[in-house]
Amino acid sequence: MTVSSRTQVGIVGAGPAGLLLSYLLALRGIDSIVVENRSRAYCEARQRAGLLETGTVELLRDIGLGMRMDAEGLEHGGIYLQFEGERHHLDFRDLTGGRWVTIYAQTEVVKDLIQARLAAGAMIEFEVRDTEVAELDTDQPVLRFTDAAGARHEVTCDVIAGCDGFHGICRDSLPAGLVTIAERLYPYSWLGILATVPPSTDELIYARHDDGFALHTMRSPQVSRLYLQVPADEEIERWPDDRIWSELQHRLTVPGWDLKEGPITEKAISPMRSFVASPMRHRRLFLAGDAAHIVPPTGAKGLNLAIADVTALATALTQLLRDGNAELAEAYSDTCLGRVWRATHFSWWMTSMLHVDPRSDQFGAQLQLAQLRYVISSRAAATTLAENYTGYYPLSWPLT
Ligand code: FAD
Ligand code: DHB
Repeated sequence: MTVSSRTQVGIVGAGPAGLLLSYLLALRGIDSIVVENRSRAYCEARQRAGLLETGTVELLRDIGLGMRMDAEGLEHGGIYLQFEGERHHLDFRDLTGGRWVTIYAQTEVVKDLIQARLAAGAMIEFEVRDTEVAELDTDQPVLRFTDAAGARHEVTCDVIAGCDGFHGICRDSLPAGLVTIAERLYPYSWLGILATVPPSTDELIYARHDDGFALHTMRSPQVSRLYLQVPADEEIERWPDDRIWSELQHRLTVPGWDLKEGPITEKAISPMRSFVASPMRHRRLFLAGDAAHIVPPTGAKGLNLAIADVTALATALTQLLRDGNAELAEAYSDTCLGRVWRATHFSWWMTSMLHVDPRSDQFGAQLQLAQLRYVISSRAAATTLAENYTGYYPLSWPLT
């Protein structure tokens, strides 16, 4: 038997994009349901991004989600860029007129959102199976899924939001021939670890080394997060803990500085890819976040872009569903893609400047070093990096 129901917005995916969209719509009195194929515990523990742009932090504060972030997040006013054995500081506050970034893990943003939505009585169906979206050529698209107890559901919606990440089903449900894909694969991956050891640095270190990129970031005053460039098809079994620490020591070392080591509690390898699908909408199916685009992680844009998309989408859907005005909904894809392509360029640029391409030669290596020397010696070049890193136009969520 199929259980039938209706809602205004059916949201596929309880990552940061889907959860924040449901939260913003509720602020405007718009109903939604969220369906998610993983468990709540899995969504809250999945290790991913950790860095929030200024505009993302301000948005979360403005909408009442800033309490724990303000108490536990770590504000950083710059980064270190390291190459040729020397470490250089970039001061973002000075370069941008006061902008900064905050270290507050995606796991924590997701926990805050799930807690707030469930406390408000929202419907989030975890552990669903066989999600489908249908009737996409009508004004009443349908969301179907099987719940954790095995009951099949059919929800009639005014709009469906595909917030189901890169491997979700919504992007492939758009009509054949509508979507154009622009894509780049990179010949390396990131091996990321979490370690129970205080960070050895006050701000993030991005290091270009002849043997590959390394990044020192953090999660809290007690927990460090570090990344190493590894070959694209690398297997994690080839990286016992002592090899990871020894390679991090090798790539991050500078005279007079020590990298503190501690127990590794998690390690995983992530591939690197740039991918943009356009348009991000067909009639009443809207894509947001990783469902529409992904960037390589250098520069930490993925989570911030997902948040920017749903902020624009929530405003557009409020205008559509509350006021019957489709203007912002029609503009949604173009509005988002401007920011997406800027972030796609920045992430590609940071990645290309800092990683060692196994296919490259002396010419390629010298171009990278020339660019890095320019960034640390020209205020204009440093400002370009700082502006992109701390984020683009403010995210505005009209509170009226
Ligand atoms: P997601 O977080 O992927 O959420 C999508 C949700 O949809 C998931 O919970 C998924 O289970 C669910 N779903 C999928 N299919 C279905 C279905 N059929 N039915 C129901 N639910 C479904 N960004 C950075 O800025 N810095 C980083 O260091 C970084 N590291 C990353 C590491 C990894 C391994 C990955 C995959 C991404 C990383 N990112 C990083 C990117 C960042 O985490 C993402 O951009 C962000 O998670 C996007 O949020 P989202 O809500 O769009 O998608
Ligand atoms: C983090 C990840 C990034 O890709 C980055 O550029 C900065 C920080 C992080 O996980 O903290």
